[in-house]
Amino acid sequence: RVTKPDPADLLAWYDRHRRDLPWRAGAGEAADPYRVWLSEIMLQQTTVTAVRPFYEAFLKRFPSVAALAEAPADSVMQAWAGLGYYSRARNLHACAKAVVERHGGRFPETEDELLKLPGIGAYTAAAVAAIAFGRRAAAVDGNVERVVSRLFSVEEPLPKARPLIRTLTLDLVPDGRPGDFAQALMDLGATICTPKRPACALCPWMVPCKARAEGLQEAYPKKLRR
Ligand code: ADE
Repeated sequence: RVTKPDPADLLAWYDRHRRDLPWRAGAGEAADPYRVWLSEIMLQQTTVTAVRPFYEAFLKRFPSVAALAEAPADSVMQAWAGLGYYSRARNLHACAKAVVERHGGRFPETEDELLKLPGIGAYTAAAVAAIAFGRRAAAVDGNVERVVSRLFSVEEPLPKARPLIRTLTLDLVPDGRPGDFAQALMDLGATICTPKRPACALCPWMVPCKARAEGLQEAYPKKLRR
């Protein structure tokens, strides 16, 4: 008998285990688009633990997208120092200016419009649309790729499997709470559905997981042999 993964089971797990992170609004509160965007850019090549102190200090120095847009480039680079990948900081500054110039200082609310901004790619556009604006969107990072490829035992190797994984993810996104759902998937990948020895016994999707049924969790995501 086939059981489909139920988004409600993941959301119920998230409600119990949600990590308290500075860019997350309290349960039921609206998230600030500027804070969400900033955190997603910082988290792209840097871990949650490393990002935390930089994130707090950066926000203190540049409390709004307007403040960031007006700041001199060297002060932005200085606040970024330590996070690495400095092209992210240059794009960050360019994006803040674009939000002010093109959108009057308010982030656009759709994935399509977000994608047109400097430094915002498919992942970030989806994450901001879902978390800050409550839009149904598939924010697929490496953790989510692992969760979804295991859940559906995606046989196609990465990177070719990406469009399929994106479609499978989007199909799971519930109409209500798409932002919580996106972050629940990220947390599940970071804490339960780990690359090695995943903690399947604690997973809200243990029953519908196809990789788990095969006993082949670690075989997914399949990767092109190099
Ligand atoms: N990694 C990237 N974005 C994240 C988020 N919003 N919460 C937790 N981990 C993340």
